[in-house]
Amino acid sequence: MLSVNHLLGIKYLKKDDIDLILKTADTFLDVINRPIKKVPSLRDTTIVNLFFENSTRTRLSFELAEKRLSADVLNFTASSSSVSKGETLIDTVNNILAMKVDMVVMRHPMPGAAHFLSQRVKSKIVNAGDGAHEHPTQALLDAFSIRRKLGEVAGKKVLIVGDILHSRVALSNIFCLQKLGAEVMVCGPPTLIPKYLHTLGVKVEYDLKKALLWCDVANMLRIQLERQDIKYFPSLREYTHLYGLNKDILDSLEKPIVIMHPGPINRGVEITSEVADSEHAIILDQVENGVAVRMAVLYLLANRPDVV
Ligand code: CP
Repeated sequence: MLSVNHLLGIKYLKKDDIDLILKTADTFLDVINRPIKKVPSLRDTTIVNLFFENSTRTRLSFELAEKRLSADVLNFTASSSSVSKGETLIDTVNNILAMKVDMVVMRHPMPGAAHFLSQRVKSKIVNAGDGAHEHPTQALLDAFSIRRKLGEVAGKKVLIVGDILHSRVALSNIFCLQKLGAEVMVCGPPTLIPKYLHTLGVKVEYDLKKALLWCDVANMLRIQLERQDIKYFPSLREYTHLYGLNKDILDSLEKPIVIMHPGPINRGVEITSEVADSEHAIILDQVENGVAVRMAVLYLLANRPDVV
């Protein structure tokens, strides 16, 4: 059983929780690859997906995970709701819960929004990304994908490249990979790497080639222009020149590495199409694995005793 009532961030999980989620996801990956991709596990559970920020992968992946578990599913988009008439987050959620909804999956632009909600409403909360804070299910599916590709996560050298400063994926990955025994390095322009990062036990490298020579796995992040209030580098062209992953630099390593990306990809900026679509990339495996990992999270949380 999980040690938590909510999935708010990897920071709050024990290693045993992560191991249990990944082991359960193995079973669900088998399920979603069968001709009948559905199990009745959450037949009596109703889940609402509350998205206050855009999403393709996470939103569809949660919805599919819920349907594969036979849950009843409600989808909520902030722009077409009464939030635009001034309703608060807590009132919105309490009104939804009054319709006998059991669990809330929420993406919100404010860091800490899922934690805030978990302390104020009677429901299990799953954080589907809160601003630049955490994206726990992305980190879990990334760890699951590394484990399936390389056999285990412990002892592996994982590089995270790009806009670390604005990335919830980076922070959740750092917590998750370290708990599972991997070494983590970040690489990017100095302006996009927070000064405190070395205090998390993470290596920092500003030279992409050196970083790639060190790693077994490179996770290429998108530049989050929507979260940048000032310019952190002269131009996208310069960023791509220094930190973009292309076939020439990959070939120059003379060793195979696994390429990951959480999506959405900006082709030709942080990664070329040739690399993104190559046999080294497991980007679509990450997406497939995401459904199984989210099934595991929902299944395990639903089987926790009720929230008090
Ligand atoms: N990886 C990820 O969170 O993608 P979306 O923003 O499309 O959900």
